Amino acid sequence: MPEIVNPRIEDYLRGLYDDGDPVRLEMEALGRERRFPIVGPLVGRLLFVLARAIGARRVFELGSGYGYSALFFARAVGEAGEVHCTELSVENARLAEGFLSRAGVWGRVTYHIEEATVALARVGGTWDVVYNDIDKDGYPAAVDLAYAHLRPGGLFITDNVLWSGRVLAGEDDGTPATAGVKEFTRRLLAHPGFVTSVDPTRDGVAVALRL
Ligand SMILES: C[S@@+](CC[C@H](N)C(=O)[O-])C[C@H]1O[C@@H](n2cnc3c(N)ncnc32)[C@H](O)[C@@H]1O
Repeated sequence: MPEIVNPRIEDYLRGLYDDGDPVRLEMEALGRERRFPIVGPLVGRLLFVLARAIGARRVFELGSGYGYSALFFARAVGEAGEVHCTELSVENARLAEGFLSRAGVWGRVTYHIEEATVALARVGGTWDVVYNDIDKDGYPAAVDLAYAHLRPGGLFITDNVLWSGRVLAGEDDGTPATAGVKEFTRRLLAHPGFVTSVDPTRDGVAVALRL
């Protein structure tokens, strides 16, 4: 599989970004222990900067795990902000409550134990950021849904759009996940209501500005 970012460059950046935050480090240790796919500190910092840069107060996450990406959003939105998380696993939501309480941001967070796109359609409303990290075969359906629930000037941010390089010709493993990521990216780039840039950090992050 092709390398997206040279691992030495990733290590260098991780070293520069290391703030020693104990809750973040504990969450990363759990990710390594369970081989759970959290976004990691490089993408986490990107999420924080993007949310803070647009003055985001309302963030809706599609696919939240045990709250690692939500930690960055919850800090970015500040005390008056809110982050809605969606997750299929009750155990992950329980872990998130522990971590995010210790980080002092649980009061800004709401977990929905529900399929993510169903939850966004049910909760409704207008959001500053919609963040997408669900199972990859579900990605294509998220484009129009996110558009419908973002304010103009809001951001639709999606992880894993380079999918470890499996998006490249000749690397496709033929799974529904790879097909989902490729169809999603095609739809997003073609959507007249978004201007999208793909940042190759880690596994590729699509940042789409809602017009
Ligand atoms: C790749 S993990 C990422 C978690 C989180 N964004 C992070 O970086 O810390 C995706 C999580 O979303 C959940 N998930 C996947 N598809 C989902 C869906 N359609 N609805 C709700 N949760 C989903 C999985 O259970 C998993 O915990």
